[in-house]
Amino acid sequence: MGLSPVTISVMDPTPVTSPVRVLIADDEDSQRLGLAAMITAWGYATQTAGDGQDALEKLATFPADVLVTDLMMPRMDGSELLRRLSTLDRPPLAIVLTAFGNIEPAVATIHDLGAFWFMEKPVQPAALRILLERAASQSRLAAEAERLQRQLSYQGVLGDLVGSSEPMQQIYSWVRQVAPSRAAVFITGESGTGKELVARAIHSLSPRKSGPFVAVNCAALPETLMESELFGHEKGAFTGAVERRAGCLELAHNGTLLLDEIGDMPVGTQAKLLRVLEDSRVRRLGGKAEIVVDVRVIAATNKVLSEAIKKGQLREDLYYRLNVFNIDLPPLRDRKGDLPALCEAIIGNLNQKHGCRVAQVDDPVMEVLRRHDWPGNVRELRNVLERGVIVAGEGVIMLEHLPPGFESAATGTAKTAQASTLGALQLPVGTTVDEAEKALINLTLEHTRNNKTRAAEILGISLKTLHNKLKEYGAGEAEPAGAT
Ligand SMILES: Nc1ncnc2c1ncn2[C@@H]1O[C@H](COP(=O)(O)OP(=O)(O)OP(=O)(O)O)[C@@H](O)[C@H]1O
Ligand SMILES: [Mg+2]
Repeated sequence: MGLSPVTISVMDPTPVTSPVRVLIADDEDSQRLGLAAMITAWGYATQTAGDGQDALEKLATFPADVLVTDLMMPRMDGSELLRRLSTLDRPPLAIVLTAFGNIEPAVATIHDLGAFWFMEKPVQPAALRILLERAASQSRLAAEAERLQRQLSYQGVLGDLVGSSEPMQQIYSWVRQVAPSRAAVFITGESGTGKELVARAIHSLSPRKSGPFVAVNCAALPETLMESELFGHEKGAFTGAVERRAGCLELAHNGTLLLDEIGDMPVGTQAKLLRVLEDSRVRRLGGKAEIVVDVRVIAATNKVLSEAIKKGQLREDLYYRLNVFNIDLPPLRDRKGDLPALCEAIIGNLNQKHGCRVAQVDDPVMEVLRRHDWPGNVRELRNVLERGVIVAGEGVIMLEHLPPGFESAATGTAKTAQASTLGALQLPVGTTVDEAEKALINLTLEHTRNNKTRAAEILGISLKTLHNKLKEYGAGEAEPAGAT
């Protein structure tokens, strides 16, 4: 079976724009300065060069989008300049100025050297202005295409899912494999790891993609309401059922139904759901007719499946019906290499939402993000960035734009982790067992800031044994005030 094309969502269509840069190369002073004054007045950033060589040198520090160049210049002429520029990754678009009636060499420059267009002297301001606008817009498109290409080269986008780490590549591969079938999928993973996004990606890559995608949250609904949500009800089926309503199973006909937080669905409802799934027929609460439904079911939970079954939160028979294919999403702390790509995609998306023009996070912020443990996974990252985008508004997100305390919390985690590794003992050969024991006890006490109860816990000995050992070493009297 052929795969449907992957939908790639571009989430950052609002790049920060700067004025278009134009370099003017002409050996004739009045011509060069006149052009520069005029083009600057049109809102472009300009610089000038007296010949081809000078232009090449200027380009090293002034990466122009458009080059307006004369053909005849000393030292290095316009043709040679264009030849040199053609070796660059993204050379400026060149508008070549030619002497009146000298069309032939100009056409050759366009044909052989890829110049953008040519213009006869004396330059007609209105015509030059239109030409510059066209070149600027083409240059912007090229920059945008390059940016999209770069984003794609992460090889890390599937639907709205971002990340090119190995665990995410594995997820994409499973999603692509399972999507075309109608197999039930069970998505597991901590909160905020993207379970709903994966469910949507499976739907949009499946033959049901033009059908509905319906998500029902099974958490926190009492049994009757849960059943009405799933199976629908007839008018008067229960108190509050003022009119007839179709349930999610009916609504998802020919499409996909996501049973989110299935571990929280009342166990009685789970039994009824299993029956519906087995015979693909649903009866509304209080109704008689059976409605045939064709639904692909995806379930999701942030609970550990084996424990949920052991605790009786998830019926084993329903579990077997739903768990034809399990996709377990990795927590963000296990794929921190994805942070830059996630930040780029999420910031682009938030720029759109809030009408902001934030480009990225700066290096110190990325450092802090890398140190954080992300218990709330990508949702937590999105929340941190959302605040950053709103507070920064434009430019880059800096440390001061992070939530208060976020930086020190992340640094604190890192310091503790560092302390426990840096705090390793180094003992020379020849150390006796007694000496090693004493060194280990002292190091642990240092780590717990002399909290003996905690130190005894870490060392796996009783508090009494620890006291005895300290008395042996003669350390008992030297207790600092406040020690426990
Ligand atoms: N791989 C990812 N790429 C981009 N965005 C992601 C990714 N994973 C999660 N997100 C974003 O994180 C947020 C949480 O994702 P989602 O709702 O899919 O998580 P979940 O696993 O269903 O969480 P919960 O268990 O709390 O329901 C959303 O804003 C989503 O867009
Ligand atoms: Mg969810």
